[in-house]
Amino acid sequence: MSCAPGEPCEEGRKRRTAIGVLGLMAVIFIVLSFASFIDSRVQAIPDAVSYTDYDAVQGKRVFQAYNCMGCHTIVGNGAYFAPDLTKTYAHVGPAWLEAFLPSAGSWPTRTAVQVQLQKPEVAQEAGVDSIQAYFDKFPAAAERVERRSAHASTMPDLPLSRDEIGGLIAFMKYTSEMDTEGWPPVPQVAGLTFPQALPMPAASAVESVSSPASGTVSAAPGNPAELGKKLALETGCTACHSADSRAGIGPGWGGLFGSDVELADGSQAHIDETYLHTAINTPDAQVAAGFNKGVMPAYANILDAEQVAAIVAYIRSLGGLEQ
Ligand code: HEC
Ligand code: HEC
Repeated sequence: MSCAPGEPCEEGRKRRTAIGVLGLMAVIFIVLSFASFIDSRVQAIPDAVSYTDYDAVQGKRVFQAYNCMGCHTIVGNGAYFAPDLTKTYAHVGPAWLEAFLPSAGSWPTRTAVQVQLQKPEVAQEAGVDSIQAYFDKFPAAAERVERRSAHASTMPDLPLSRDEIGGLIAFMKYTSEMDTEGWPPVPQVAGLTFPQALPMPAASAVESVSSPASGTVSAAPGNPAELGKKLALETGCTACHSADSRAGIGPGWGGLFGSDVELADGSQAHIDETYLHTAINTPDAQVAAGFNKGVMPAYANILDAEQVAAIVAYIRSLGGLEQ
């Protein structure tokens, strides 16, 4: 297109302006393209987050392998069957998750959380080493123990190995550290009441969070097997062991005493008093075939000899070849 004769001709100026603007856009585009490769935002990255010996990237793979997203959400993505897990680590802390994940079908008791907190690496991650300080630091863990302790949960028990549990906690630690810009918003519940939000009925045999912060479970006089039954509930054994012969996370106790079991190393063992004492104090010393090693906590520093004997009496009372 050219200028008509006699008219003022501005074609050259317009073309220069157009080329100038295009050039400027190209420069902005190139600069921003480079800027997008710079880690400028103060955002947590999974490679930089670890929990004890486990890293968050490893944990993310476990999270995907078990399809946790099929029920849960992370920053609102996933299925809405189960609670969002983005900030769970920050709310309940590592010891509660250590107690919950191996036997998710049942809510952890106070002692079950305490057993985990006795592991130095878990206490270090938590930043506290007494159970009372832990509950003060993570009130959401206290709330869960107080209201749900030893009740069944609606999450299935998953056959997680020790490494998978560590990885999952590392992954949840990472999601907790993500800057979600204030998401999720705090619910506006002023003036509203939800009958569904009532606390669960108290489980009479289970100690509450406000009970004296003693190191071990209280001993009561009476029949040892009865005491053992109470201790097994309070300590959280029943989250993994049933009183009949059905296997849960660990072998069922019914009919166990006096039987012969195969161990993971291929050897056979006869289940007597000595075997049971060892199994409770140092579980990794003899692992029953078909079960995960490292999942059952060691109770040597939690239960005293008398308490272990009471639990052994209880297991014995559940039947077996030698009564
Ligand atoms: C079949 C569905 C399902 C799957 C799969 C599942 N969960 Fe859950 N999970 C639940 C439900 C339901 C709850 C809530 C339990 C309740 O309130 O009784 C829950 C609770 C939890 C909690 C406690 C949340 C809280 O705020 O107290 C954690 C942590 C958790 N799940 C982690 C996981 C992880 C990690 C995986 C994958 C390894 C997983 N879940 C897989 C259904 C599931
Ligand atoms: C987080 C789950 C979990 C908890 C909690 C747990 N156990 Fe176990 N238990 C297991 C697993 C898994 C095994 C099998 C692998 C092994 O021997 O370590 C096992 C094995 C055992 C055995 C040996 C059974 C056999 O056939 O060899 C006994 C006895 C036992 N547990 C008692 C207890 C007592 C008592 C408590 C509570 C003070 C308890 N467990 C708490 C998971 C658990």
